[in-house]
Amino acid sequence: MQRNLKSITLSSLTLAFAGCLSADAGHDGDAQGAQTQRGSAGVTALGDPLPGTDPVAFAAARDNFAEEEDITDGIGPVFNEKACGNCHTTPVVGGSGNQIERRFGKVEKGIFYGYDQPYDNQGGTLRQLFSNETYQSGAASCSIPVEREPADATVHNVGRRTLPLFGLGLVDAMPDAFFDLLVAIEPAAQRGTVLRRIPDFPDSRDPNQSFTRQRVQRFGIKNQQTNLVSFAGDAYLNEMGISTQSCFRGQSVLAFALDNQSNNTRLADGCNGGDLAPVQTADGIPTYTDDAVGPCTDPATGAAIDEVQDDLANFTLFMERLAPPPPDLSDPVATGLGAVVFANAGCVNCHSPLPFVTPPRPFNGVPGNYVFFPFSDFAVHDMGSLGDGIGNTGDTVAATRRMRTAPLWGARFNTQFLHDGRAKTLRAAIVAHDGQGRASRDAFARLSTSDQNLLIRFVNSL
Ligand code: HEC
Ligand code: HEC
Repeated sequence: MQRNLKSITLSSLTLAFAGCLSADAGHDGDAQGAQTQRGSAGVTALGDPLPGTDPVAFAAARDNFAEEEDITDGIGPVFNEKACGNCHTTPVVGGSGNQIERRFGKVEKGIFYGYDQPYDNQGGTLRQLFSNETYQSGAASCSIPVEREPADATVHNVGRRTLPLFGLGLVDAMPDAFFDLLVAIEPAAQRGTVLRRIPDFPDSRDPNQSFTRQRVQRFGIKNQQTNLVSFAGDAYLNEMGISTQSCFRGQSVLAFALDNQSNNTRLADGCNGGDLAPVQTADGIPTYTDDAVGPCTDPATGAAIDEVQDDLANFTLFMERLAPPPPDLSDPVATGLGAVVFANAGCVNCHSPLPFVTPPRPFNGVPGNYVFFPFSDFAVHDMGSLGDGIGNTGDTVAATRRMRTAPLWGARFNTQFLHDGRAKTLRAAIVAHDGQGRASRDAFARLSTSDQNLLIRFVNSL
């Protein structure tokens, strides 16, 4: 019943957006010289850094992101790839990619189980696709089996496609309250859920982050992560099998310090934790952590140490300085009309057309007052049959259907869509919407072919 209802809020969103399009198409609409994704702020090509970025540091960080590592660097015992840049490739380093990761789980009496509790710990829902197989560690001959789905899993082989990373530093800079506002103005039937938790690794440059304060979860297909430095640590561990330890204001960050063992099976003695990285000897650092910064207080002075392990620091720097995808405004009339069709079909209820503006002095050093248009609310929505069925242990089945609104900026640079890459075209992605997206999918289906094409052209311009 609600599906054709357009609230005042929505029409004003549309107006706000139409306004920004015409400002871009016609003249430079930046009153105080603020920089924008759509303006002439020096952003030219995909993969360029944001304005104000040191090009040498950025290039070095990108090299680190693209660098392949091996068993002596700590890859494994199980992993998905040997470099961040081996997955994030399309069409340049930092982009989306063809790799699909695999997850599994079990639903029992309506509750999700993620194989991460003592009674049946298989190392969580991610099934790493490769292992170090057979290697010699001193006198020991070691063999690491490839991971398998437990026989009693009920949620099987769920795919997750590699996401693009452009513009994410700007998203990291946004204050929590902005995400609350985005969902507050959504119609009740489509309203997203803003999730919050304590960061695995709070970003010490931000006075608002700590081990005692929750932050809005905004990164990952399910919004599993709160900030980019945590995603860097998480990906280094879970995609590449490289474990790290860092220091946050004098406290040791151990969330990424222990390698995953294949299906959590105990490793034979003498196998060096499953890879051939040098062992750690400092107090308080797990022996087999692959890369550690060491104790988090200065032994001589007792002063608190604040240090991000150097690979994580580089991955974070590269990601946060990657500029957003440049929009294609070559046909402003078609895309202008398409914007109206997009709004009328209710796409804007989740793929928010509102301008995002970074704070005046972002904690992470991205430009202040920078205007950008990701076309997402970065909230999760119950997507019905499009949900991937993966959750955290204890979640209801309804919670496992929640997916983050995929940002639509740069969609034309991607080769596959939706969480598992099942859609090869935008049209296929749109008609797969279900749950809270169903009314909008139906509205799209009712459009004339020419209106559908205008809408798709509009999405391809973002
Ligand atoms: C095996 C392929 C693969 C490798 C290697 C890989 N990623 Fe990813 N990346 C993915 C996939 C798949 C996703 C989506 C996963 C999800 O959210 O569940 C993703 C998502 C991300 C996101 C979230 C993007 C967003 O829109 O929220 C970040 C950040 C990221 N990766 C950073 C990294 C970093 C840093 C590295 C290296 C340490 C890395 N990735 C290595 C496949 C990969
Ligand atoms: C209720 C919220 C909601 C509405 C309304 C909605 N979407 Fe989505 N959209 C999502 C979510 C959530 C995803 C991610 C689904 C997934 O991960 O599989 C998504 C994914 C997409 C994708 C795939 C992008 C990618 O990179 O994978 C496209 C394209 C898309 N939506 C376009 C549209 C269009 C066009 C409309 C209007 C006809 C629309 N959406 C309406 C929530 C919504």
